[in-house]
Amino acid sequence: TDDPLVIFTPSGKRGRFAPGTPVLTAARQLGVDLDSVCGGRGICSKCQITPGYGEFPKHGVTVSEGALSEWNEVEARYDRIRGLKEGRRLGCQAKVCGDVVIDVPPESQVHRQVIRKSATVRDITMDPATHAYYVEVVEPDMHEPSGDFQRLCDALRDQWQIEGLEADASLLGKLQPVLRKGEWKVTVAIHRDHRNKPRVIDIWPGFWEGRLYGLAIDLGSTTIAAHLCDLRNGNVLASSGLMNPQIRFGEDLMSRVSYAMMNPGGDREMTNAVRTAINGLAQAIATEAHVDPGQIVETVFVCNPVMHHLLLGIDPVELGQAPFALATSESLSLAARDLDLTAIHRNARVYVLPCIAGHVGADCAAVALSEEPNKSEDMVLIVDVGTNAEILLGNKDRVLACSSPTGPAFEGAQISAGQRAAPGAIERVEIDPATKEPRFRVIGCDLWSTDEGFAEATAQTGITGICGSGIIEVVAEMRMAGILDAGGLIGSAEQVGTARCVATGRTNAYVLHDGTAAGGPLITVTQGDIRAIQLAKSALYAGARLLMDELNIDNVDRVVLAGAFGAHISPKHAMVLGMIPDCPLDKVTSAGNAAGTGARIALSNIASRAAIEEEVGRIYKVETAIEPRFQEHFVAANAIPHATAPFPELAA
Ligand code: FES
Repeated sequence: TDDPLVIFTPSGKRGRFAPGTPVLTAARQLGVDLDSVCGGRGICSKCQITPGYGEFPKHGVTVSEGALSEWNEVEARYDRIRGLKEGRRLGCQAKVCGDVVIDVPPESQVHRQVIRKSATVRDITMDPATHAYYVEVVEPDMHEPSGDFQRLCDALRDQWQIEGLEADASLLGKLQPVLRKGEWKVTVAIHRDHRNKPRVIDIWPGFWEGRLYGLAIDLGSTTIAAHLCDLRNGNVLASSGLMNPQIRFGEDLMSRVSYAMMNPGGDREMTNAVRTAINGLAQAIATEAHVDPGQIVETVFVCNPVMHHLLLGIDPVELGQAPFALATSESLSLAARDLDLTAIHRNARVYVLPCIAGHVGADCAAVALSEEPNKSEDMVLIVDVGTNAEILLGNKDRVLACSSPTGPAFEGAQISAGQRAAPGAIERVEIDPATKEPRFRVIGCDLWSTDEGFAEATAQTGITGICGSGIIEVVAEMRMAGILDAGGLIGSAEQVGTARCVATGRTNAYVLHDGTAAGGPLITVTQGDIRAIQLAKSALYAGARLLMDELNIDNVDRVVLAGAFGAHISPKHAMVLGMIPDCPLDKVTSAGNAAGTGARIALSNIASRAAIEEEVGRIYKVETAIEPRFQEHFVAANAIPHATAPFPELAA
C-alpha cells in the first residue's frame, strides 16, 4: 500500500499505518516497547519519542519535515507547563503523516530490565504484578443508579481492558472522596495474582506521579537479604540484610524444628520473631533509599521449606520427620497483612515461590528461575551454598534437585573466629607455601595485609574475624601450603616449620592474625574449624555426587556457585577443598545470590511466576536423608580434596 512506513529504533520493528495513526498506537500494534501510564491522554509523558529527519540509507527511507503531525493543543500545553526536551514528542499525540524513523529513548522503554547473572546478562521484560493506571470515570447520575466502584470497573474495562476487579472494604471507603477530589479522574494501582485476578491496591486523585516499589526477600536460616526495587524499571534502589533472629531458637533448621516440637507455642514465637525482623528490614531499606514504605506494594519471598512454614505461621514439625510432607508446595499469593507485614503498604501483596519438596524449597526454585538449568545445553551443577546447600543438576532434558545438610560453617558460623560478611571480616587469604606466612584482605579495604597503609586503612573497622569465603580460602591455602594434611590435621610448629602453628590442648591451630599487641583479636584457625569445614564440604560434595549417580555421569560440564556469599567464593579454593566435583576451573562461575536474583525476576515479571511454577513440577527430587549412598559419599569425601574421585583438573 501507499500508507506511510513507520520504523522504530532501536528495535528495528516496522510497519505501514494509515495517515493520522498516533505513534503510540503504531508502537502497540508492532509490539514496540513504548510506555504509557495515562492511556494516551497527554498527561504522563512516559510515551516520549524522538523522530529522526533526513536520509536513512540503512532503512531505505527519507523522512521529510511533515512526517509527523504538528503539535496539537494537548502536546503544546504539556510543553508549556512541564517542558518537553528538544526534539522530543509525545508518542500518544504525534500522528503519522509520512514515512518516518522514530527512536524510543531508554526512559520510554522501561519494560526492559537487565539482570546480571553468572556469566551472562539477561533481559527481563518488566511486567510486574502491580501496575498503576490512570482512568477517567463517568460521573454518577440520578437516572443511572450504579455505584462508584461499578463505574470505576466499567472505566477500567473500557480504557485498560481490565475485567473482574475486586477491592477490599477499606478501599471502597476511600474510593468516594478520591473520585470526587480528582474530579472523576483517578490513578488506580492494580495487582494481578498468578491466576490473573485483578485487585485494587490503592487509589489516588488525578494523575498520580508516585512510584510503586517491591521487595525481593531471600529469607535464609542465617541471614535475611532484601532488595528494594522500583516496579517501573526494575532498578534496585537499596539492598540490605540482617541476621535471622530465629538463630536464638536454634542455629540450623533441624534445631528450629526440634524447638517447635519441644516447646508448645515455639513455632509461633519463631514466626513472630521473623515477621518482626522483616518489618524492621523493610523499614530500614526504605529509609536508606528515601522511599515511603507505604509505597511498597509487593513482596516476593524465597526461602527453604522450614523458613517457608515459619514465615506463613505453619508449624514445621512435619518437615522434621520422614516423609517430610509440606503443608503446601504450591506458590502462594497472599495479603501482606496476613503475614503481619505492617511496615509496607496496608494492601500490599505477597508472592511466595513454590517449594520443590520437603527439603528443597522455594529458594531452590528461585535459583532454577535465575540460572535456568532446564534451558542449558550442557550438564550444569548448581550449588546454592547456605546453611542447607541446595543442589540442582541437569540440562534441557532433565533437572534433578536435592538438599544437603552442610550446617552454617560456610557462612562463618560454628567457626571459632567466624563472622558474618561485614567490614572487618577477612575474606581473601593467601599463604606462601615456602614461608607459611599469610596475607589477607578484609571487607571494606582494597589493600592486602602486607601492603603499605593497610593498618591505617583498617584502623576504623579493625580486623574482626573470618567470613565464609575467607574460611574456605584459608583452609584451602593451608592445605596447599602443607600446613594441613589430606586428612585435615593441622601440623605442629616443628612439623610445618612455622611458629604460626601453635599447640592448643591436644591439637594445633594456625595463627592467621595476631592483633593482641594493639588490643585487637587473635584470629586462629583451629582443628575444630577444620572439622566443621570438612563436614560441610563433604555434605555438599556427597549431595552433588548423589545426583550425578542418578544421571549415571562422572563429570559435569560446568559448575555454578550460588548463595549469599557465592559471589565471593573463589572457584579454585572451592575445588582444592573438594566442595565441588572436578571440572575445568574456567567452567566454574559464581552466580552471586541466585535465589535473590530469582526473587527479583519473579517481582519484575509476572509470567516468570507461571514459568517457574510449571518447571518446579518437572524437577525430579532426590531425597538425601534416606539414601544410603549419601552416607558412603559423605564419608569418602572427608579428605581434602578427597580420596575417592580423581581431581585431574586440579592436578593440571
Ligand atoms: Fe501518557 Fe502519552 S501516554 S502522555
